[in-house]
Amino acid sequence: MNANKEEDIKSTPEHIAIIMDGNGRWAAKRGLPRNLGHREGAETLRKIVKESGSLGVRFLTVYAFSTENWSRPAEEVGALTGLISEYVKKYLNTFVKNNIKVKVIGDLSKMDPKTFGYVSDLIAKTENNTGLTFTIAWNYGGRSEIVNATKRIAADVLAGKIDPEAIDDKLFSDYLYTAGLPDPDLIIRTSGELRTSNFLIWQGAYSEYYVTDVLWPDFDRKELLAAIGSYGNRKRRFGGL
Ligand code: IPE
Ligand code: IPE
Ligand code: MG
Repeated sequence: MNANKEEDIKSTPEHIAIIMDGNGRWAAKRGLPRNLGHREGAETLRKIVKESGSLGVRFLTVYAFSTENWSRPAEEVGALTGLISEYVKKYLNTFVKNNIKVKVIGDLSKMDPKTFGYVSDLIAKTENNTGLTFTIAWNYGGRSEIVNATKRIAADVLAGKIDPEAIDDKLFSDYLYTAGLPDPDLIIRTSGELRTSNFLIWQGAYSEYYVTDVLWPDFDRKELLAAIGSYGNRKRRFGGL
């Protein structure tokens, strides 16, 4: 049974992560350039952040740009990077006003200085907010995140700061970009592809997956409730009985 009303929700995931896929297909279906699909996708994100907060979700993490997305045509990469800059600047006040704490994860060394400035400002101004924690994964790749953590752990071992015997799942997690965030309970992917595309591959070890054919720009409150409803009807076992 899919819940489509708030009353139907049996349990709300504390942390929802979303692979926001399908902007290009959404645009193609309408004979529009891909960039307009991305623009519409950004508008969907604005709405879903708001809905998540109102449904009592504590953490929302979204995949906005992957380490592999640089391989797209320069024009599309430019549109995507421009959009994140615009988004972060435009909604600064909304995030502050709505008590949303914003984080950005990924390799930000490749972010242009102007966007990096907006991002840093947004993070600083929302740091003490206590509502929804909204994390944007930008130039994020699960493999490079793990490689990066491994390098830093190795350096700390060499510096004598940690004993190799002390390396466990918990310590490793603390070296990931997501340090301090709980693992996602539910990972939603729009547009029907049955793959992780390098998103939260460590953190998602025991996440529940929900894939819908709905294209990201068409994703709305009803679809979010359906995903949460599906989650509420599952039995998480974590390898146990
Ligand atoms: C998701 O939409 C947005 C990003 C990957 C940045 P796509 O651009 O991947 O859209 P499709 O998959 O081509 O439809
Ligand atoms: C995943 O979507 C990345 C983001 C949503 C940012 P892609 O469209 O890049 O993934 P693939 O290429 O279909 O695996
Ligand atoms: Mg895609």
